[in-house]
Amino acid sequence: MLELDELVARASAVRERAHAPYSGFRVGAVIEASDGRTAVGCNVENASFGLGVCAERAAVSAALAAGLSEWKRLVVLVEAPQPVAPCGACRQVLAEFCDELEVVLVTTSGLRDVTSLSELLPRRFGAGDLGEGRDAD
Ligand code: THU
Repeated sequence: MLELDELVARASAVRERAHAPYSGFRVGAVIEASDGRTAVGCNVENASFGLGVCAERAAVSAALAAGLSEWKRLVVLVEAPQPVAPCGACRQVLAEFCDELEVVLVTTSGLRDVTSLSELLPRRFGAGDLGEGRDAD
């Protein structure tokens, strides 16, 4: 595991590259795997607002593309009065790839809040729920 400060530094660097001209709310995210490798993501907005992608889901794509397995920790960095937790869509996407994940929410002013995916998304919907209920046709 890397030092949290190192992960926050990486989140800060990628947050600088966010494309958020519409909301002005830049987000940096880092996924750390059990071998210490990391993947980063920033939010990418679009003039067609609905096409925007959150930093967390960008990090998920980067982690998959880099072949990271056994994701252990997610760091999310924002500039806000309080740390912010990933949106519901990002929670569900994260849950596709990890049973459990430590989630560290950080602000640029240094506030930190530690939670977990299971706390953020209890009673999740997953692949196992599709089995018997899937339509046969
Ligand atoms: N956003 C993220 O990237 N992650 C979050 O956890 C919350 C929201 C982005 C989406 C959009 O680009 C901007 O922040 C404002 O919602």
